[in-house]
Amino acid sequence: MIEKEYLYQMVWQAVSSEVVKNKKYIIAANWKMNKDAKEVIDFLEVLEGTELSGKNDVVLFPPYPYLYLMRDKLRYSKILYGAQNLFWEDTGAFTGEVSPEMAKDFGCRYAIIGHSERRNIFQETDEMLQKKVQACIRHGLKPVLCIGENAEERNALRHQEKLMNQLAKGFMNLDIKKLDSVIIAYEPVWAIGTGTNATPSQVEDTHGFIRYTLESLYGKASAEKVPILYGGSVKASNIIELAVAENVSGFLIGGASLNVNEFKEILTKLGTCQG
Ligand code: PGA
Repeated sequence: MIEKEYLYQMVWQAVSSEVVKNKKYIIAANWKMNKDAKEVIDFLEVLEGTELSGKNDVVLFPPYPYLYLMRDKLRYSKILYGAQNLFWEDTGAFTGEVSPEMAKDFGCRYAIIGHSERRNIFQETDEMLQKKVQACIRHGLKPVLCIGENAEERNALRHQEKLMNQLAKGFMNLDIKKLDSVIIAYEPVWAIGTGTNATPSQVEDTHGFIRYTLESLYGKASAEKVPILYGGSVKASNIIELAVAENVSGFLIGGASLNVNEFKEILTKLGTCQG
């Protein structure tokens, strides 16, 4: 019995390493409204002291007030960072908002657009998100457009319809030449912060569907350039099985990215598996 389990582990390791070794992943940390300045500094110090796989991109999304710490501490680092949200106008009477140029002043190269918490708590619509995507592109920032169905839609098998809609609207009027500057994050709402991730086969099916939708909108060659991240209860214990799934180009990680040791473990496991 033990031997069988051991054998299974050996085969799984060999197969997963074969699959992930030729892939390059984007591993993004969405800290949401968490951490204070000291915690951010401590996190960066530990992460900077960790050997990171040269293949993958690590992107941190701290709350706005800590972007200056990213700029100061990550100046010579390969660790990248971005904003959790942005407004689409350049300047003006928009109390409480932050423009793409302001984020760029602090070294942001990415912005999360349309996280389900923005859509649900702050009532952001697809039309608003489309403007945000366009604003990012206009200013040379990479938008990470989040799409995802809720539990009710998944149970009613309406998830594909929902995703297609969010995708088509979010990328409406997008210049096809700019497709290599966008990133999609598939984040099923029912998997976010619940501890229950989508299964590898659900992820593979859904990412396949997203790829297919992109291909029908923009053609195969352009669609191939778009990384599709998965987000929703990703942690060190499930990273490899999810990384193996076809069309998974990386991860958007919430809860597990807050603890630097867990985050390091995620990066190390993936890096080691890639060889
Ligand atoms: P989670 O959050 O990893 O805590 O599920 C993911 C996200 O909201 O981006």
